[in-house]
Amino acid sequence: MGNQPRIVLGVCGGIAAYKSAELCRRLVEGGASVAPVMTEDAHRFLGEVTLSALATEAVRTSLWDEREPIPHTRLGQWADLVLVAPATARLIGAYAAGLSHDLLTATLLATRAPVVLCPAMHTEMWEHPAVQDNMALLRQRGVGVVEPGTGRLAGGDVGPGRLADLDEILRAVSVTLETAGAGAGRDGAAQDLAGQRLVITAGGTREPLDPVRFLGNRSSGKQGHALAEEAASRGGNVTLVTTADRPVAAGIRVMKVETAGEMERAVLSLAEEADVVVMAAAVADFRPKAPVDRKLKRADGVPEIVLEPTPDILAALGERKGHGQLLVGFAAETPEGSDEMRHEALAKLRRKRLDLVVANDVLAPGAGFGHDTNAVLLLDAGGGERAVPLTDKREVARVVIDTVVEMMSRRGRDAETKGRQQ
Ligand code: PMT
Repeated sequence: MGNQPRIVLGVCGGIAAYKSAELCRRLVEGGASVAPVMTEDAHRFLGEVTLSALATEAVRTSLWDEREPIPHTRLGQWADLVLVAPATARLIGAYAAGLSHDLLTATLLATRAPVVLCPAMHTEMWEHPAVQDNMALLRQRGVGVVEPGTGRLAGGDVGPGRLADLDEILRAVSVTLETAGAGAGRDGAAQDLAGQRLVITAGGTREPLDPVRFLGNRSSGKQGHALAEEAASRGGNVTLVTTADRPVAAGIRVMKVETAGEMERAVLSLAEEADVVVMAAAVADFRPKAPVDRKLKRADGVPEIVLEPTPDILAALGERKGHGQLLVGFAAETPEGSDEMRHEALAKLRRKRLDLVVANDVLAPGAGFGHDTNAVLLLDAGGGERAVPLTDKREVARVVIDTVVEMMSRRGRDAETKGRQQ
C-alpha cells in the first residue's frame, strides 16, 4: 500500500463483522493507519476491544462522544479512503438516500475521500430490487464496490451475498488508493486526462435463451477494467459500462449491464457527452431471437434456436460521432498471420469510422480473453501503428491511453494552427 494511507474502516451489524477484525489487521500490517467506526448493531457481532487492539486509531462508535466534537467531519477530512466491510442493506440504503443517522453514515456524507463498499447479506436481501437499485445508484456516483461472493451464508444457506475474500477487498483498496493518489498528483503521475470524459466498456455480454441459460463469451472484463483504472488515475472522468463482477476503484462511475441491448442503451446515451469512447467489451454479434420466459425442459426435446443480429454499438457510435470525439474500438481476431490481423482490424477501423483500433490475436498464448496479459497492435486512422508485445493488461491500457492522449493533443494543435491561419 505504501505511504501510510489513512483508512476509516466502517463495520456494520452483520455476521461478517467478525471478518473485519482480520481485515483491520491486514490493513495495518500493509502500512495503513486505520480508524474503525462501528455501528450500534456491529457491537452485537464484534467486541470493540478486538478492533481497538488491532487498529492504529481509536475505535469510534458515536456522533455524541463529548471528548471529540464533530467526529464525522474530522474523520471524513482525515481519511484517504472510507472502506465499509461488511456493508449491510440498511447502510447501503441510507447512503444512497443521503441519510445520516449515526457516525458511520454521517462520515460517509462528510467525506470527499473515495468510498469502497463491501456488501454482505443474505441472498434474498442482496437480490432485492430495492438493494440492487441503491447499489446501481451508488456505482453511478463513483462509489467503489467489492461484489459479494457466493458460498455458505449464516444459517447454512448457500448463495450470493457473503463478504468478498479479504484478498479481493485489499486489492480494491490498493487500486483505489493508487488511483486517488495519482489523482491528487501525489506520485507525480501525469494528469493528462484531467477534464476529459471517457466512456469505457468491458466484459462479455450475455444473451438469454431462457431464464437460466444464455449465449456468452469468455471475456473477463480485465482489459476494459484496466483501461478504466488507467484513465481514472490520469485524471479522466470515467464511466465504465461493464458486465463483469470485478472490483472497481472508487471514483470510477459504473453501470452494470448484461446484454448487448442494455449495453447499447447505456453507451449511446453516455456517448453524447463523452470526449472519448473505448469499446473493449466483447459484445455478442448474435442473440436468440425469441428467448422464452420458462426454463427449457429436456423432456420437451432439443429446442431449435433461431438467432438474430445484435445492434453494432460501435458502428452506431461511428455514425453519430460528434465533432472532436475520439472513438476507439478493439478487434478480437483469430488470424493465420499478423498481416491478416492488420487487414481485418483496418477493415473494422474504416467500416466503423474509428480513430483507433486495438487488435489482439485471441488465440496467441497469454493474450486475449481471460488472461492477465495481452499483446496488441494499435492502428490509427492516420496510418500510425504500434505493437505492444505480451505484457500485463494494465501496461497495455497505459499504451492505449498514451496513444489517445497523443491523438487528442495532435488534434488540439491542428485546430490551433487552423484557427491562426483563418
Ligand atoms: O475481457 P478480457 O478477458 O480481458 O479480454 C479482453 C478482450 C479480448 C475481450 C478485448 O481485448 C477485446 O478484444 N475486446 C473486443 C472483443 C470483440 O467483440 O471484438 P470484435 O472484433 O468482435 O468487435 C469489434 C469491435 O466492435 C469491438 O470494439 C466491440 O466492442 C464492438 N462491437 C462488436 C459487436 C457489437 N454487436 N457491437 C460492438 O460495439
